[in-house]
Amino acid sequence: MQSILVTGGAGYIGSHTCLELIKSGRKPIIFDNFSNASSRAIERMEELAGTEIEVVNGDVRNYEQVSKAIEDYNCEAVIHFAGLKAVGESEVRAMDYHDVNVIGTHVVLRAMKQAGIDKIVFSSSATVYGVPKFLPYTEDHPRNATSTYGQTKLSVEYMLEDVRRSGEIKNVAILRYFNPIGAHSSGRIGEAPNGIPNNLAPYVVQVACGKRDAVNIWGDDYDTPDGTGVRDYIHVVDLAQAHLAALDHLDAGKGAFTVNLGTGNGSSVKEVIAGFEKACGKSIPVSVGPRRAGDIACFYADPSSAEKLLGWTAKLNMDDMCRDQWRWQENNPNGYED
Ligand code: NAD
Ligand code: UFG
Repeated sequence: MQSILVTGGAGYIGSHTCLELIKSGRKPIIFDNFSNASSRAIERMEELAGTEIEVVNGDVRNYEQVSKAIEDYNCEAVIHFAGLKAVGESEVRAMDYHDVNVIGTHVVLRAMKQAGIDKIVFSSSATVYGVPKFLPYTEDHPRNATSTYGQTKLSVEYMLEDVRRSGEIKNVAILRYFNPIGAHSSGRIGEAPNGIPNNLAPYVVQVACGKRDAVNIWGDDYDTPDGTGVRDYIHVVDLAQAHLAALDHLDAGKGAFTVNLGTGNGSSVKEVIAGFEKACGKSIPVSVGPRRAGDIACFYADPSSAEKLLGWTAKLNMDDMCRDQWRWQENNPNGYED
C-alpha cells in the first residue's frame, strides 16, 4: 500500500483528502503540529474510514521530524497542505507566514530529496493571480499576488518550478484552489475556524445557527450583476478528489503540472447567502458594509486544464455545498469543541 505524507492532514482540506486517499487504497500519514486543527478531527476521520490513521505530531519547519516521518513510514509522495492561510493576519505576521509557508516547504523538499522521493502535490491558491487582467483565470494568467499570504504561495510556486527544472524534485503538482466550502456529507468533519471567521461561508452558517447577528456584506457596489463580490466556490470533497487525480497523474510518470481547481462558475455573496437560506430553511439577516480592503470584485477559474490533464471536474453544486456545510454547522455548532 502506497504511504503518502500528508502535511497539514488534520486541517480542513487535508482531513477530507485523507479520507479520499484511504478510499483509493492509499495510506495517509498525517504530519501536523495541530496549530489550526483538533485531535478530534482524527477520531472522526478514523470513525468514517473504519480504520486507524497514522499521525505524527510535528512541524514542517523541523527537518529531522519531517525526514524521520518520511523514513519511518516509507512514504512515496507528499501532499503538502501545512501552512498559514489568513490573508489579513499575513499582513501583520509576515515573518511567520514566510517562515511556515516558504521555509516550511523548503524543509519538506530537502527531506524529500534526502529520502529520494520526488512526488509532491502542493496547495497553491487563486490568490497568486491578483487583480484579473482577464477572466476566467487560465493557468497562464500573469501572477501578481497582492497580500503577504499570496506572496508566500507565489514564492513556493517559484521554488517548486526551480527544483523541477534542476531535476532535484521532478514530479511537482501545483494545485491552485479557488474558494473551498462545504463539508463531508456525514456532517462529522468540516472547517472549524478559530474566533470570528474571515471567510464568507463559515460566517454565514454561524449567523444561521444564531451564534452571530448578521452577515456583513463587504460592499454591494461592485461592478457585478448584483453588486456583491463574485467567487468560484468549490465543494471540499471535489477538491479532495482532485488530489487523487493529481497523484495518479504523477504516479503514471506524466510529469509536472499546474492546474486551477474550481468549478468555473462565479457566485455572488448574495447568491451564497440565498443558497444557505435554502439549506437551513430560514432567512439569514444581513447588513451591508463598506468594501473590505484588498478585495477583488470578481474572479473565477477556467478549470479545463484539470479536466484535460487529470480527467477531473467538480461534480457538486452550490446546493450541495450549502447543504453539507449547514449539516456540519448544525451538528457541531462549536466545531470540534464540546
Ligand atoms: P487549515 O488551517 O485547516 O489546514 C492547515 C493545517 O496545517 C492545519 O491542520 C494546521 O494545524 C497545520 N499546520 C500549520 N502550520 C504547521 C506547521 N508549521 N507544521 C505542521 N503543520 C502545520 O487550512 P486548509 O483550509 O485546510 O488549507 C490547506 C492548504 O490549502 C493551506 O496551505 C492553504 O494555504 C491552502 N489553501 C486554502 C484555501 C482555503 O480557502 N481554505 C484556499 C487556497 C489555498
Ligand atoms: N465576504 C463578505 N462578508 C464576509 C466575508 C466575506 O461579504 O463576512 C465576501 C468578500 O468580500 C468576497 C467573498 O465574500 O467578495 C468571498 O470572501 P472570502 O473571504 O470567503 O474569500 P476570498 O475570495 O476573499 O479569499 C479566499 C481565501 C484566500 C484564497 C482565496 C482564493 O481566504 O486565502 O479565497 O482561493 F486565496
